[in-house]
Amino acid sequence: EMTDQEREFQDKIDNDIKIEPRDWMPEDYRKTLIRQIGQHAHSEVVGQLPEGNWITRAPTLERKAILLAKVQDEAGHGLYLYSAAETLGVTRDDLVERLHEGRMKYSSIFNYPTLNWADIGAVGWLVDGAAIINQVALQRTSYGPYSRAMVRICKEESFHARQGYHAIMKMAFGTPAQKKMAQDALNRLWFPSLMMFGPSDKDSVHSEQSMAWKIKVKTNDELRQQFVDQTVPQIEYLGLDLPDPGITWNEEREHYDFTDPDWNEFFDVLKGNGPCNTDRMRDRKAAWDDGQWVRDGLLAHARKKAAARVA
Ligand code: 3HC
Repeated sequence: EMTDQEREFQDKIDNDIKIEPRDWMPEDYRKTLIRQIGQHAHSEVVGQLPEGNWITRAPTLERKAILLAKVQDEAGHGLYLYSAAETLGVTRDDLVERLHEGRMKYSSIFNYPTLNWADIGAVGWLVDGAAIINQVALQRTSYGPYSRAMVRICKEESFHARQGYHAIMKMAFGTPAQKKMAQDALNRLWFPSLMMFGPSDKDSVHSEQSMAWKIKVKTNDELRQQFVDQTVPQIEYLGLDLPDPGITWNEEREHYDFTDPDWNEFFDVLKGNGPCNTDRMRDRKAAWDDGQWVRDGLLAHARKKAAARVA
């Protein structure tokens, strides 16, 4: 039986009235948002590593400038999302500490390597393409600060996906060797991109409650299906082979049928056994430690300014 407060809260959710930081909210609503927004922010920050690896090795100055701009955008997305999480009563330092101690996650996709330049195109095209589908839906999430962060982030994401598609198109329409690299990148990143949407709905522990609270407005499988339906025609336009022989158009469903990712691999990567988990954590901890002096300097400066105002 719901208390009056819970009933009032659920009425707001049901009437699409945004929940704001100072509103009463169930403790589990707050906890789920800290978990999801925090991990979303961690994904943006860790997601800079696979691409950052190629900034110094981009094939042209133009591609270097584009990649640099995209990686900087991802850092900014992380900061928007940490700010949104802070409105729920956690500190950024606390979230980062939980990440470094393995008590919080980041998107599994970033535990796969970017082996060559075709991967950078495939990451923009597929990974940002998948993130856009997820994030466009999340613009309608019930928590105000998260919804508004999504609106801002989505404005920049389409550039991320388009630049990736353009890069991979040049290779798919390029020399036979370039086309082979584009095909190889697609083959390696296709199933890990499907995993970005989370486990299938029947195995998703949070989905039912997240849908009831409109934290999630579409299920994992709905968004994954949307991604497949959108991407298969692009693969065909590029003249590349489908990365999954199970992909076929299903007339009565009016969607593509496709093979599920290997869920054992998914949960194994989540447990820390992906190709790059160790590297990513090592690099993130090193970056955090190397940046300590910057944070100390900024804090000292802020304290001096605050003291001057008080004096
Ligand atoms: N990688 C890592 N962990 C994942 C995952 C993935 N791809 N998919 C699911 N999980 C985790 C969940 O976090 C949860 O674990 P937890 O309880 O420790 O948090 C567990 O697997 C069960 O999954 P559920 O489906 O029950 O969990 P959710 O209801 O939270 O759904 C989600 C998972 C769809 C990822 C949802 O959390 C979500 O939409 N998050 C926001 C979007 C996000 O994080 N996107 C990151 C993509 S990369 C990115 O944005 C950067 C881009 O700019 C390139």
